[in-house]
Amino acid sequence: MNAFKVSSDTSAFEVPAVLDGQGKLADHCIRQAAAMMDRHGLVILTDLLSDEEADAGLALMRQTIDDPDRSHSAFASETDNLYKRRDFCSLPSTPPVNSFAATVCQRIEGVLSEYCGRSRPLLEVATFTSYWGSSHQYIHRDPIGVISLFAAVEDVSEQQGGTVFVPGTHQYGGAEYQHGGKAYALMALFRTQCNARIFWHNLKKLWAMRKDEGAPLAPGEFRDRVFSTQWDQHQPNLLRFVLGKNSQFSLRMLGPGTLWQLYRHRAALRDLFRPVQAAPRKGSVILYRSDLLHAGPDNRTPQPRRFFGMSIARDIIDPKYWHDGYSPHPTLLAHPMSFGDLLDCPPLPAEARAPRRRASALAG
Ligand SMILES: [Fe+2]
Repeated sequence: MNAFKVSSDTSAFEVPAVLDGQGKLADHCIRQAAAMMDRHGLVILTDLLSDEEADAGLALMRQTIDDPDRSHSAFASETDNLYKRRDFCSLPSTPPVNSFAATVCQRIEGVLSEYCGRSRPLLEVATFTSYWGSSHQYIHRDPIGVISLFAAVEDVSEQQGGTVFVPGTHQYGGAEYQHGGKAYALMALFRTQCNARIFWHNLKKLWAMRKDEGAPLAPGEFRDRVFSTQWDQHQPNLLRFVLGKNSQFSLRMLGPGTLWQLYRHRAALRDLFRPVQAAPRKGSVILYRSDLLHAGPDNRTPQPRRFFGMSIARDIIDPKYWHDGYSPHPTLLAHPMSFGDLLDCPPLPAEARAPRRRASALAG
C-alpha cells in the first residue's frame, strides 16, 4: 500500500499579517484571508501574534496542562489521552484566558465577522498537545457550521505534526456540482484512500514501537490501540475495523464497488486533491472551516507539539451536536460567551501586545 503523502508547501494558503493603527488586521489582509477561506477552506495568517503574545498564550496553556484536575476533551483519541500520547483539554474561562482569546479574535475580527455574527456562541477554548508515539488521526470533518482556529505559540515542525488539511474540500451550497457533479463522491473516495493509508501507517508504527526505546509502549497499550473493544475513532483498532464499528474508517468502506471506483478515478483523485501539512512558526494563526477535510498527524519527535485552539459557531447549534465535536470547559458552559463578548472583552495588557508588523511602520 502506498504511503500517505502530504505536501509541506503551504505558501498558497498564507497571508503575512499586517496590522493597522488599531492593532487589527489591515483591510487588504482581511480581503486576502476571506478569499482564501472561501476558495480553499483555510488560511494561515503568519506573524499575527508577537513573541510576547505567543509566550502569554503558552504560559496559560501550561497552567492547564500541569493541572491534574484539567478537563480533557473526549473526541480526539481517548486511548491516546489515556497513554499520554495526546493531551487535548479545554481551558477555563478565567480573565487571563479570555483576554488571550479576545486578543486573537479582536485582531482578526474582520475575517471572523465574514462568517460569525456577534451573538454566535464560543464553542470551545482549548489546548491541543501531542507527544511522541501518538496516532495519526483519520482524515475527517468536524461538525459543520463552525470556524476554528489554531494559534502556534511556539514553532511547530512538520515532524511534530502540524495539522494536515485537504484544501478545497469544504462544503457549501452547490459545492457538489464541482468536478462534473462528482465533487462529493470524489471527496468521499479520496478520504477513504487517505484513511486506508493512515490505518496502515498507524499499524506499522505501533508494531515498530514494540522495540522503540524512544517512545516505548506502556503495558496494555498495544492491545488497547490494536485489539480493543473500546470506542475510539482514531486508532488502527483491528477489531472495530473488521466489525465496521468505526465511523471514520472500517472494512465496510472497502467493498468491491468502492475499490473499483478508487481504481477508476485514481488519476482524478491524484490531481484534484493535494493534502498539505502546516508547520506554523510561532505567532501564526490557522483559520479553517470545520467542514474542511483535515487530520491531526502523529508527533514523530520527542518535542511535544502544542497548539492553542478555539471554535466559534456560524449558526445556532444543537447542544448534543456541539458536545459531540467540541469540549467546552465547565466554566464556559456555566457562563456562555459569544463572539461579541470576546470582541468586548479586555485584551492582553499593552506590554504583552507589541505587534510584529504594522501597516504604518511598513509604510514609513
Ligand atoms: Fe478535527
